[in-house]
Amino acid sequence: MQLKTKAPMSYHRPVMLKECIEALNINPKGVYVDVTFGGGGHSLAILERLKEGRLIAFDQDEDAKKQSENIKSRSFTFCQANFRYMKKYLKLNGVTKVDGILADLGISSHQIDSPERGFSTRYDGPLDMRMDTKGDLTAASLLNKYSEAELHKILGMYGEIKNAKTAAKLITQHRVSKPFSRTEDLKKALQTIAPRGKENKYFAQVFQALRIEVNHEMQALEDFLHQCGEVMAEGGRLVVMSYHSLEDRLVKNFINKGKMFGEVEKDFYGNEIKPFEAVNRKPIEASKEEIESNNRARSAKLRVAERI
Ligand SMILES: C[S@@+](CC[C@H](N)C(=O)[O-])C[C@H]1O[C@@H](n2cnc3c(N)ncnc32)[C@H](O)[C@@H]1O
Repeated sequence: MQLKTKAPMSYHRPVMLKECIEALNINPKGVYVDVTFGGGGHSLAILERLKEGRLIAFDQDEDAKKQSENIKSRSFTFCQANFRYMKKYLKLNGVTKVDGILADLGISSHQIDSPERGFSTRYDGPLDMRMDTKGDLTAASLLNKYSEAELHKILGMYGEIKNAKTAAKLITQHRVSKPFSRTEDLKKALQTIAPRGKENKYFAQVFQALRIEVNHEMQALEDFLHQCGEVMAEGGRLVVMSYHSLEDRLVKNFINKGKMFGEVEKDFYGNEIKPFEAVNRKPIEASKEEIESNNRARSAKLRVAERI
């Protein structure tokens, strides 16, 4: 299929594009799903390889939806929805089995680079951080309402910061005199406990933790992974790219054990009960050249599994 549209690199530069497409092992007549459309870089590369096949793409972000409108192809369907409802939306579009699913987790460069979205530590902006701007929870409401214990848990678990307890305490003290509303408020509140010389990394971890909670990212990923087993045809490929260790651990456990926590279950004959078999034992990482030209690729871990 010849597509005139090109993915706008200014919106998001796709990470490990070649590796993801190879991993999907595309059948030109197959049905594929890209659950994280973003700027459409991966989607376009999939569409280019389809002849009579079909691509269903998801993204919960309004700006991603606008990007998707540039693709004029009858093989392409866009759903503005959270991928935790993938199965339902596939069914609504007449699809019950698919041949491959791609997930490129997290947020796009466009989202990070839009100060009004509040994802970036670099610019002052509202403490929003919602991918779906219709969502109820913003980073500000979380910072102003969550208990100290909840904040401690989120910062420690999702941000992996060492002084999460102290940070949670400072946040609850700070909000008494002035509720949080701007990203600069948060940075100022935590300035005194950010490790010297490593402030940017520290704030990036704090922001990551809040973003994960605001968007219920871990819960959405769990729901999504379970549905992958249900909709994937035998031999179909699951290709997931994660950018932090918690996500990667969840994906790895699901692929290897068929569940997120605990050991793999076995049937009466001792056969493992799990929907996927890992194609690569170790995650694929971006090449040195790619990391040099796209810093975002440095933390990417790509896992590939096949439906058994
Ligand atoms: C890393 S970007 C994807 C970039 C894309 N592969 C490209 O080449 O442009 C992740 C995208 O997934 C979307 N996203 C993340 N979690 C989502 C979820 N649970 N449901 C739907 N979309 C989600 C974000 O809004 C963002 O646009």
